Amino acid sequence: MCGIVGYLGNRKASDVLVEGLSKLEYRGYDSAGVAVLEEGNVVVQKCKGRLANLEVKLDESKLEGHVGIGHTRWATHGAPSDLNSHPHTNEDGTIAAVHNGIIENYIILREWLTSEGYKFKSETDTEVIPHLVDYYYEGDLLDAVMKAAKKLEGSYAIGVISKNEPDKLVAVRKDSPLIVGLGKEENFIASDIPAVLNYTRDVYLLEDNEFVLIENQGVKIFTSKKEEVNKEVYHVTWNADAAEKGGYDHFMLKEIHEQPKAIKDTLTSRIVKGQNVTLDSITITKEQIAEIDKIYIVACGTAYHAGVVGKYAIERLAKVPVEVEVASEFRYRDPLITENTLMIVISQSGETADTLAALRLAKAENARVIAVTNVVGSSVAREADDVLYTWAGPEIAVASTKAYVTQLIAMYIISLYFAENKGTVRKSEIDKIKCALLNLSEKAAEVLNHKDLIKDFAKRICNDQDMYFLGRGLDYAVAMEGSLKLKEISYIHSEAYAAGELKHGPIALIEDDTTVIALATQEHLFDKMLSNIKEVKTRGAKVIAIAMEGHDVIEKTVDSAIYIPRVMPIVAPILSVIPLQLLSYYVSIEKGCDVDKPRNLAKSVTVE
Ligand code: F6R
Repeated sequence: MCGIVGYLGNRKASDVLVEGLSKLEYRGYDSAGVAVLEEGNVVVQKCKGRLANLEVKLDESKLEGHVGIGHTRWATHGAPSDLNSHPHTNEDGTIAAVHNGIIENYIILREWLTSEGYKFKSETDTEVIPHLVDYYYEGDLLDAVMKAAKKLEGSYAIGVISKNEPDKLVAVRKDSPLIVGLGKEENFIASDIPAVLNYTRDVYLLEDNEFVLIENQGVKIFTSKKEEVNKEVYHVTWNADAAEKGGYDHFMLKEIHEQPKAIKDTLTSRIVKGQNVTLDSITITKEQIAEIDKIYIVACGTAYHAGVVGKYAIERLAKVPVEVEVASEFRYRDPLITENTLMIVISQSGETADTLAALRLAKAENARVIAVTNVVGSSVAREADDVLYTWAGPEIAVASTKAYVTQLIAMYIISLYFAENKGTVRKSEIDKIKCALLNLSEKAAEVLNHKDLIKDFAKRICNDQDMYFLGRGLDYAVAMEGSLKLKEISYIHSEAYAAGELKHGPIALIEDDTTVIALATQEHLFDKMLSNIKEVKTRGAKVIAIAMEGHDVIEKTVDSAIYIPRVMPIVAPILSVIPLQLLSYYVSIEKGCDVDKPRNLAKSVTVE
């Protein structure tokens, strides 16, 4: 979490930093701050709250300097406050640092530095960094940062400037993302590419323990042994507009509408009518696939929900047992991993700390890992044996939408690839599913046409305190995602239940006027689902159903229904989730919530 930026060039640094931070606010927005070298001094401006508060301060302070660092915070150590905001400085204010990550040994370092006479002002783990750099400083900022980094345990992307070397910006990363933007007579550091896209499309994607030295002459990258590294320039091909709202009121709405394209892009060249599935450059062989006796799908949040759909698809098509687990649990138990285990990690950002830790656990036990991620060059992409990219484009809204549907597409692609290689399903069946997938983009666009109807539902239910999502089989997996979407952006308490489980307890929660969203897209479970809907209706619930066209018999039982186009039930989650995303969006709007930046959340969870 947290976003960092840095700039050295000819422009007004504070403008570039604020512009960059505005693209990183999805990583946290508890506070924001910058430090700029101003007439030979390090000047810090920072405050609690959104970037807009900082902009007011900067307007007043009129910083003109050309070198600086900036930070947008998601609080971990120390409450959101002016004092705990970054940048932090050493005692005499000559060194300033911004940090994304967690310094796990900060208490020991703090005690030691205090015994050396250093005084701390904030409650943050980060404040040890400028003091450590100060401790090791002997006239060379890069050397001091290198020595300080050796003392740090945990995860970090750090940017440092110093009054003593006003034409330098030093940075380092370990387990937190960091890129370098390469401009003409100006260079940048940032936690993510969109922060620099207004200025350059050429970037270095840094590896762990690489140090960056930016000077007027250019950029140098070093290993921790101070050997210079020859980095390959990564040219960003996606459009800067992809990271802008493009006429929509919110990123979330824009991203919901981008789903037809994202679906198409993720399928392109992998699923082609009449051809076998191709998995880009994935190196797993037919023999290796045959030997896999267990698959773990590990992820967090929405990505975990995509994994639940993946389990259904892989078990049904590839006939391999699959366990889906949340990464934060997986990493701290003793999972049974052998050489014949395959792990699939799913992560939009590719930087989620728990998912990355689970991946490393599997690698340490010699299991093979396939990463499904949306971010090229992200940590999971680099550390996995194989990567299948979801081509959703940059997802900015904190609530994941287009990344989720493309993760589902990735699950189908992997299932079909394994099924083809293992011969577990008839070719005719595989061809039917491929055809269904190829038609999905168009059908997703049709679902978006129900917007106005869904807006009306949102008006009716936006004052509810609680809501329940029900489904069976794949519909249950989608119900979980619908429930998460609603609670995270509208703050309405909601739960998802497997509809058959209701009578074992949860049905006690249903009373007059309780809203129930019932998914009934799975043909073979339709009648069972109707019975479950009747059970809650009898107890006073008002029910909105999501069903497939042609199943209008459901209207006899429910209060309202939204229909998705007819598709093979196995791919229905891609369509049935869209009304749920729209419903959450409009409920959030009705309630006046901050849709793109819901409270307490951040887009990229790079801390445990
Ligand atoms: C919810 C949401 C989160 C993420 C989760 C994992 O809308 O976006 O639940 O899915 O934090 O993030 P990634 O996919 O980046 O690993």
